[in-house]
Order: sequence, then C-alpha cells, then structure tokens
Amino acid sequence: MEDYDKREKLKEFFLKIKNCEECELSRSRTKFVFGSGNACASIMFVGEAPGKNEDLQGLPFVGQAGKLLDELLDSIGFDRSEVFIANILKCRPPGNRDPRIEEINICKGYLLEQIKIIDPKIICTLGKFSTQLLLNTDKGINTLRGKVFKIDGRIIMPINHPAAVLYAPSRMEILKQDFKKIKRLIDSDGEMPACEEDVLNLESETTGDEQNKDEQLGLF
Ligand code: URA
Repeated sequence: MEDYDKREKLKEFFLKIKNCEECELSRSRTKFVFGSGNACASIMFVGEAPGKNEDLQGLPFVGQAGKLLDELLDSIGFDRSEVFIANILKCRPPGNRDPRIEEINICKGYLLEQIKIIDPKIICTLGKFSTQLLLNTDKGINTLRGKVFKIDGRIIMPINHPAAVLYAPSRMEILKQDFKKIKRLIDSDGEMPACEEDVLNLESETTGDEQNKDEQLGLF
C-alpha cells in the first residue's frame, strides 16, 4: 500500500472506532487511545492498555513509562513520530488493573487491523500481554524477551514493559541491550535477524497443552 493510502486508511479506521462501546471500559474512559505515530512506520511498539495519563490525553505512553520509552527510542536514534505506538486495549482499565481476557478478545481486532494497515516489518511487544497475544502463546515474558520471532513474514521481538522496568530497575540494562538489538534488526531492514540462530519457530517450541489453552482463550 502507498504511504498516502496508509495514512488515509488509518485515519478512516480511527474515525470508525473512536466511539467504540463494545465493552464496559468505554463507560469509564475519559478518552479512547487509538495509538500514535507514523502510519508508514517500519517498526511498531505494542503495549498493554492506557494508564491514567494516557486516558486523560488520548495518547499512548505519555506517563513515566512513556518517558522511558522515549529515552530508549532516542538511544537508538529514533523519535516517537517515526514509529507507531499502540496498545491492545484502547480504553483504560479502572485502577490500571490487568486487561481481562474478554476485553482483549473484544479489542484485539482493532490492533490487528492497525497492524494490517501499517504493515510494519518489526513489531516490538512490550510486556506479557501483547507478547502472548501476538505470539499466540502463554509462555512468560522472561522466557521470550530479547528473542526474535518471524511470523507471517514479520519480525516480532518481545521486550520487557518499560513500566515493569521502572518497578525493577535491575532490569534496565537488559532493556537497553534489547533496544540495541532492535536497532540491529532495523539496520538489517527487518529482512534478517541480528543473529540467525535467534529466529525461533514458536510452534515447534509450543507444547500441545499450551496450544489447547490458547485455543480456549480464543487468541486469534
Ligand atoms: N502502559 C501501556 O501498556 N500503555 C500505555 O499507553 C501506557 C502505559
């Protein structure tokens, strides 16, 4: 799709869903948080759900975690206007509780459509929820972070959620190293990973039990 078409399509999609009332969260939200950035970005970051600041401003990652994300992007020479940042849920769960499966199942279609329109070469999943959703697994983030997966011709690289790192500063160095790896992936144009042996086939790693559970959760 041409760049102009991507922008128009994304705008059109925003207008179509911005008044969504598909779940309870629409009643408590201040603003719908669609996501922000470049519709033609080759890299997309996917978080969990808007927090208090995001809900007030209608923009993703504008609180403390967002400040850290901006710094990490800056460390690899990027500004947030060059990437696209979105969440699984577009509305804030009250009190910043974890997203519920039923909320994820209702809202995930919006994220998948955003991915389809933007068509990034690399998706960086921030934390457990977006990682498990986009990799269709129930493996934990500590097992998956820093690894590179190729799914439908797209690279997916899970990293720790910046908010989680703010709570556990000992993980900051790992996050910084993961950003360096993201930079190497970008420099290789998303065509090949920094280290070939890092490309994992999740299916061959996923056990039957996990697959069953994922099916029950209705992820994808
Ligand atoms: N955490 C998220 O996952 N998303 C945001 O937009 C802000 C904090």
